[in-house]
Order: sequence, then C-alpha cells, then structure tokens
Amino acid sequence: MKILLLLFFLFLFLITTRVSPEYTRPNPRPLIFRPHNRSDSDPQQVHISLAGKDHMRVSWITSDKKVKSVVEYGKMAGKYDRAATGESTSYRYFFYESGKIHHVKIGPLEPSTTYYYRCGGYGAEFSFRTPPVTFPVEFAVAGDLGQTEWTESTLAHIGARDYDVFLLPGDLSYADAQQPLWDSFGRLVEPYASTRPWMVTEGNHEIETFPIIYPHGFRAYNARWLMPYQESLSSSNLYYSLDVAGAHIIMLGSYTDFDSDSDQYKWLQADLASIDRIKTPWIFVLIHAPWYNSNLAHKGEGGSMRQAMEKMLYDARVDVVFAGHVHAYERFTRVYDEKADECGPIHVTIGDGGNREGLAMSFEDASPSISLYREASFGHGRLRVFNSTHAHWSWHRNNETYSVMADEVWLESLSSSTACKEVTKSSKAPKDEL
Ligand SMILES: [Fe+2]
Repeated sequence: MKILLLLFFLFLFLITTRVSPEYTRPNPRPLIFRPHNRSDSDPQQVHISLAGKDHMRVSWITSDKKVKSVVEYGKMAGKYDRAATGESTSYRYFFYESGKIHHVKIGPLEPSTTYYYRCGGYGAEFSFRTPPVTFPVEFAVAGDLGQTEWTESTLAHIGARDYDVFLLPGDLSYADAQQPLWDSFGRLVEPYASTRPWMVTEGNHEIETFPIIYPHGFRAYNARWLMPYQESLSSSNLYYSLDVAGAHIIMLGSYTDFDSDSDQYKWLQADLASIDRIKTPWIFVLIHAPWYNSNLAHKGEGGSMRQAMEKMLYDARVDVVFAGHVHAYERFTRVYDEKADECGPIHVTIGDGGNREGLAMSFEDASPSISLYREASFGHGRLRVFNSTHAHWSWHRNNETYSVMADEVWLESLSSSTACKEVTKSSKAPKDEL
C-alpha cells in the first residue's frame, strides 16, 4: 500500500511540476520535513499578514476541527484584553484532508507596536510587531523559498536583522501536490511568519491543477495563504495591493489572466489610478515570472505579461519590480520596452530563497547592457526606505552559515523626479483634456 501511495504521489509530482530542461543546476540541499508535534487543538503553522489599514490577519491550522477561530491579544505578555472572531476553511486534495484553517482579522492596531496573541484559546503565546506608518520602513524580500537546508539558512539570515514586512514574489512550499509538504512548510516558516507580516504572491509551484478533478488550481494556496485582496478591492486572492508606511505595494499574478480584458488588468488600472503619490511616494510591484531576465532558465516566460502590462506600470512611474522564478539574483537598470529608460522601474529577480531545485547557473554569455549585476547564489534582499525620496536596496548572499552583502544600490523615487513627473503630466494631458 505504501509503495502504491509513493508511486501515486510521484505521478502527481511529475505531472504538476514544470521542468525547464535548458539548464543544469548544482546540487540542492536536502529537504527538511517538519513533523506535527503539537496537540491537535494547539495552533500550528501560525502566520500573519497585513489586512487593510491598522489590521492584521492571523492564520493558523488545527487538527482538531472543534477549535474556534478566535484570537485573543493585547500589548502585554499573557494579558489579552481584546479578542476577535474570524472564519475557517478546509480543503481536500485526493486522499488528503487539510486541518481546520483559521483566518482572524484583528485590530485596529497601533503602529510600531508589539502585540502578544494566542490562537483558538490553546497553546503557546506568539507575538508580532506592527509596521510603522511613517518612514523609515524596511522590507525583507526572497522568492522561491521551498523547504530545504538552504531555505533554513536564508530564513535565519532574514531573521538575524530586524525588518518590518517580508515580501515573497511566489513559489512558497514546493509541495507540488504533495499536500503534507504545505503543512511542513507552514511549520518551518512559523517562527518568522508569526512575528512579522508575510505578504506573498503566487508562483507556478502554487498552481497544483489536475485535469478534470482540480482544473482551476491554487486550491491549497488560496485556502492557506489568504491575502488582503478584498481590502484592496480585488476579486481574487491572486492579485492585490497594500500600503505600508509610504509605500504602495502591488502583488500581481503571473499565472492568472492579465490581458487587457481580464479582471486583473482592470483591477490594476483602477489600483494604479487610486495611488496618491504624496501619501505613498513609492510604488513596488511583485510578480513571479520576470519580465527581464538574462538567465537561460525560464527565458521569455514573462514576456506576454510584460507586453500586456508594462506600459501601465511605466505610466504610473513604478519604482521597482521584484520577480522570482529564476533561481538566481539579477538587477537591471531602469527599463521600459527592453531599453534603458530613466522613468521606468528597476527590475530585480530574487528567486534565490533556497528551494529543492537548486540554482539557475547559466546566464547568457554576454551580459545585456541593461543588466547591472547577476549571480547564481542563494540569498535574500533588503529594501530600506528612508524617506519619500531615498531608499537603499541590498542583496545578501548565503555564504554557508553567514550572510554577505554582495550588491547594493541607492534608489531615488520616481515621484521625486522632475523629469519623469513632467513626462507623466504631459503624457496624461490629452486624456485629462478629453
Ligand atoms: Fe517558479
């Protein structure tokens, strides 16, 4: 029976994983499986996410389906003077049945404040710190995490220095239809994701479609990683936006419709139009498949989305676009329409969190002039936004047990660029006059 089950999951793995054969990767490190070792009613896989102004969503899973979706919280350890009730869900995937997945929105919360909380009335106390409402604010960024010893190393480096919010441009667990690996991933990231908000968007490893039976995909992802799409007037958990201090962050979906007649396209149009650059001078966008990429891995896969949406981001003067998917680091200059352009966003590929597939070692022989730094190593990024005009981006390579800053650049917000402001005004003038 065990062998049959093993063969079945191997079959699922083969048909749900998209493998690009064009490049070879070095040895990945072993997968870490975190077993369930708490009581059935204890919360496990606790993670938090920002959920609209002054609110946080607390998500966790219990094996016991009778546990209530309630979070008790307060500003002193062990003293919970507030409580909130939320919702729960669960899902099936072939023979697998998930635990009870709880999502509870709490708030209003004060900024830059530590809150202590308990989930479902059972188990250990957790705590988190809310992000600030004013600059400075710091983001940690890493994509394509997976759950290997490299992942553990990246997470340890991220956690070793303070930050406010974690941003993940897709490919979380690499469960690839083996649903217990979603649970293991939730346990692996809990020490980090329960203390700082994790804002994620989906990658190809979240799709998990199966012909006829699960044709729509994202079954586990949507149930487990509920993001603030309703709070940002989106109709899908696969794309949404949020404000953190003076930054407007847009999470786009590379694997859902993005053409000009799609919901995502129309939502993005409305979302960009609603941005107040005085209130949020910075705009950051996260996608999974990069629009600019000089690695041989996944070459051109983001091309059709770029053609559909790039002009919208360019006209809105987006500051940076972060992508994952390619398991390496690459930073481009400001670009638009495949050429250097001082009013276009900087593109950064940071799909180097540490997944089981290893690194994408092969770049095009000649580095394109728009590519300023590229390296196939695991690591993570730091985006420190100091004020409305200046931010610092750095990339930190995992050097075994320590982390080394290998790339850095100062960024100036396009909202403070006179040249680009004027282009924006003149390009919008004909529409304004209509
Ligand atoms: Fe990917």
